[in-house]
Amino acid sequence: MLVKTLEGIEFKTHDSSSILESGLNAGHVFAYSCKNGQCGVCKTTLLEGDVVALQEQIALTEADKKNKKILTCCCAPKTDILIDVEELSLLKDIEIKTLPARIKHILKITDQIVDVELRLPPTAKFNFLEGQYIEVIGSEGIRRSYSIANCANEKTIKLFIKKVEHGVLSQYWFHEAKANDLLRIEGPKGSFFFRGNKKNIIFMATGTGIAPVKSILDKLAENPKAYSGINFSLYWGNRNVENFFWTPNYNSLHLNYIPVLSQEHELWHGRIGYIQDSVIEDALCLENTQVYACGSMKMIQSASALLVKHGLEEKQFYSDAFVSS
Ligand code: FES
Repeated sequence: MLVKTLEGIEFKTHDSSSILESGLNAGHVFAYSCKNGQCGVCKTTLLEGDVVALQEQIALTEADKKNKKILTCCCAPKTDILIDVEELSLLKDIEIKTLPARIKHILKITDQIVDVELRLPPTAKFNFLEGQYIEVIGSEGIRRSYSIANCANEKTIKLFIKKVEHGVLSQYWFHEAKANDLLRIEGPKGSFFFRGNKKNIIFMATGTGIAPVKSILDKLAENPKAYSGINFSLYWGNRNVENFFWTPNYNSLHLNYIPVLSQEHELWHGRIGYIQDSVIEDALCLENTQVYACGSMKMIQSASALLVKHGLEEKQFYSDAFVSS
């Protein structure tokens, strides 16, 4: 079958491969993250033709289905199709590699979070766009995805890793990992990166979803003049006070930082509730605005629906949802 996009791209699909997989195999780069129907990043509109679902399209709402939305990671064409999907040309030069990496340092910053810095071989060329993630390949080939928390021009890879109860790799990170351990990584992956052609930029993160946001902000702060006309807001939500383990410090950017605790606490005098509600409470202008949201699926689904309802253009909501493996 033939897949055509509104931008004029064409590629063939093979047997039971998803539209996304066939597109990637043909050398195109489209938005994706989880590849299993949960995050919704690959959502697009089916304009002509018909598709068959290869796996459940969990991230689609009833309204999405009515509006002919599909998840390209879950569907294969039944007929030739036309879809409204954007090619991410910035990612075309980014090569996905499997590389050895040693732990340079590991630090437990709270009971629930470790800060890990990985060192790559000196000769390795590893390029990524700030906001992307890597997979760490543990023993027995178990893979887990972690967003990169630093800039691409640094020689190491920084990760903020959250403990997952009974998680196989969590056992390693929180009880066994030590400096100089040898691991394998694969990446960079994902399509969460800064597009930045709007007057207002809102970053939203929950928990360790702050990692790719920090990475993007570190990069922007390297060239603040280029962004002097942009109003940046950062809403960071956490359930526990101690999980605000990092403080943004970007004097050169016009950044308004709003930490939000989801429940009351005697030591907390700041904002309480959900970050998506805080954005609405602050009555931010959602015209000429882009939103970058990373963290829990619940926040991303709720934020996307709420902000679009309040005037954000749907295509200007970029997200990276942390979904369980
Ligand atoms: S990449 Fe398709 S739903 Fe996550």
